[in-house]
Amino acid sequence: MTARQILVTSALPYANGAIHLGHLVEYIQTDIWVRFQKMRGHECWYVCADDTHGTPIMLRAEKEGIAPEALIARVHGEHSRDFAGFHVAFDHYGSTNSEENRFYAEDIYLKLKTAGLIEVRSIEQHYDPVKQMFLPDRFIKGECPKCGAKDQYGDSCESCGAAYAPTELKNPYSAVSGATPELRSSDHYFFKLSDPRCQDFLRRWTREPGRLQTEAANKMQEWLGTEGEQKLSDWDISRDAPYFGFEIPGAPGKYFYVWHDAPIGYMGSFKSLCAQRGLDFDAYWQKDSRAELYHFIGKDILYFHSLFWPAELEHAGYRTPTSVFAHGFLTVDGAKMSKSRGTFITAESYLQQGLNPEWLRYYFAAKLNGTLEDLDLNLDDFVARVNSDLIGKYVNIASRAAGFIAKRFNGRLFHASHNHLRDTFDRDLPLREAAEEIAGHYEARDYGRALRRVMALADLVNQFVDKHQPWQMAKNVEHEETLHYVCTALINAFRLLTLYLKPVLPHLAKRAEEFLNIAPLSWADAGYVLPADHPINPYEHLMGRIDPKQIEALVAANRESLAPVSEPSPQRHAQHQQNTEDKMQEQTHISIDDFAKIDLRVARIANAEHVDGADKLLRLTLDLGSLGTRQVFAGIKSAYDPATLVGRLTVMVANLAPRKMKFGLSEGMVLAASDDGGDVPGLFILSPDSGAAPGMKVK
Ligand code: 2FM
Ligand code: ZN
Repeated sequence: MTARQILVTSALPYANGAIHLGHLVEYIQTDIWVRFQKMRGHECWYVCADDTHGTPIMLRAEKEGIAPEALIARVHGEHSRDFAGFHVAFDHYGSTNSEENRFYAEDIYLKLKTAGLIEVRSIEQHYDPVKQMFLPDRFIKGECPKCGAKDQYGDSCESCGAAYAPTELKNPYSAVSGATPELRSSDHYFFKLSDPRCQDFLRRWTREPGRLQTEAANKMQEWLGTEGEQKLSDWDISRDAPYFGFEIPGAPGKYFYVWHDAPIGYMGSFKSLCAQRGLDFDAYWQKDSRAELYHFIGKDILYFHSLFWPAELEHAGYRTPTSVFAHGFLTVDGAKMSKSRGTFITAESYLQQGLNPEWLRYYFAAKLNGTLEDLDLNLDDFVARVNSDLIGKYVNIASRAAGFIAKRFNGRLFHASHNHLRDTFDRDLPLREAAEEIAGHYEARDYGRALRRVMALADLVNQFVDKHQPWQMAKNVEHEETLHYVCTALINAFRLLTLYLKPVLPHLAKRAEEFLNIAPLSWADAGYVLPADHPINPYEHLMGRIDPKQIEALVAANRESLAPVSEPSPQRHAQHQQNTEDKMQEQTHISIDDFAKIDLRVARIANAEHVDGADKLLRLTLDLGSLGTRQVFAGIKSAYDPATLVGRLTVMVANLAPRKMKFGLSEGMVLAASDDGGDVPGLFILSPDSGAAPGMKVK
């Protein structure tokens, strides 16, 4: 087999948010594939980087009172730590804010310009006169032009689902300053995707075998239309100052839009790797390169990777991706990840709770099949499957055999001739013959199938144990030889299962290799069994079971703990589909008028009691003086004994729309502080200073 040259990437995460389990579906998936290719003996490189440019990052830094460079440096550290914690082993993890990336962003732009594929046009956009900047759609809010719902984003209405242009919003306001935006014109730089050269190229490219998964290729046909149709519009790749990014050469005050330099970040990051390792950049990126290039991405950013990106590469004279591998989103217990349910789980919290990252790697792998389908992390199934497969079927094989080898046979394997050992082993436990089939499933990214096959082999091994019952043999010296052979076969079986699981469980495999006293396993090692008389090391427990209590603690640690009386709607942007800078999660400022809409009142807790059937809620009766009394269900049961609350003064939102709950009507919300996502546990309800009386307004 000749070694292939393979360059693999995962999508670049934005440098303004934490890595969560939704992200990890992609990085774990890619890492498994890369590890597999390396085990096959190929030259395979895995690069990624932080996606650092754009308005949300600029504004986030401003809000924190730091320079964008300081923000992205901090986040780079956090992301690197989280990836390492899950054994995601990039060969290089860079940043799009690097000189290498600037070079290729300019280079590609200038080549497209020379090819006549860049056009400057004046366009009209919302401008914030207070903040003195143009506003991305996500930073404009207003009333929905269709249903009139207030405070809707500039591109779609959360209330009625309508999609529209930001210029259609009624009474628009800037989410940055609250000011009424003005329409202003400015020059923008467009990549001419509508040019027949691009359309023809993309029609051909997206249909070439292997480029895209079937579902993705169909989507592309929809976007491209049929021969002769003109469905693609030009792509606006510039933004006006102020903008955190690279200034466009020859265009002062104009910057590359973050999505122009993000995929180019794959090249920038690889260029840095080349410098570190002495690799030949051109061998991977020049037009006639024989190397393979694969991008793992979420299905939400297919448009960028299957249209803009190959069209830019092609017309700038570079090679195009061999394939784009898209995957679906993560759901937890069948629903979108949710902060209020505690299922928006960060990588950091998972590790901090002491959960083993390889449990998650295994579970994700067991459910991945190389398609665009969503992947569900069912928390009960997670516990059951990891415990039964990894501990019950796999790890136990080593522990069952190791004791006898150590105590009865001086830590050494059986001493028959090597060929004899291999042949009897293959007859009793035909594990080696599955090597190529399993490799095929990994290659096709159908890890679920690969692992089902591996677990079926583990079942065979466990049946072999049950048949021979080594613990019975050990009682009779006459069976000494057979016992030695059986345990040797089990150790050999364990070695092969370890090899097959190694792309998924690299850390466990390393410890197993130490126990087996062998060099790091590669795929070709399935061609051998351990030599006769081989000495192994004393067995140390390789992996523990998941205790369901750990999962409860994980969910509790991720639950947003601001005493909600009602379940907030699941986070709009709960996962990876935060695909454009326009999809900013939060606004930076609200106006004083916005604040005045909230009727905050001092309330006396007249009564507090447990609610039958509710784990988190207390029923509070709140006295608002002349405004009467209110019933509120508050999620503070974990922090307060109801008896200690009665008589206390607190602060409530008095004009929150009443909400019908399972237990009755909730007519407001009490305010409580919590160290959201931080280290300080607990919940703390607010109290006014002494002298305040029920019903007083808080402002
Ligand atoms: O959607 C996202 O999270 C983007 N930051 C992905 C960029 S991938 C590549 F194009 F850089
Ligand atoms: Zn609407």
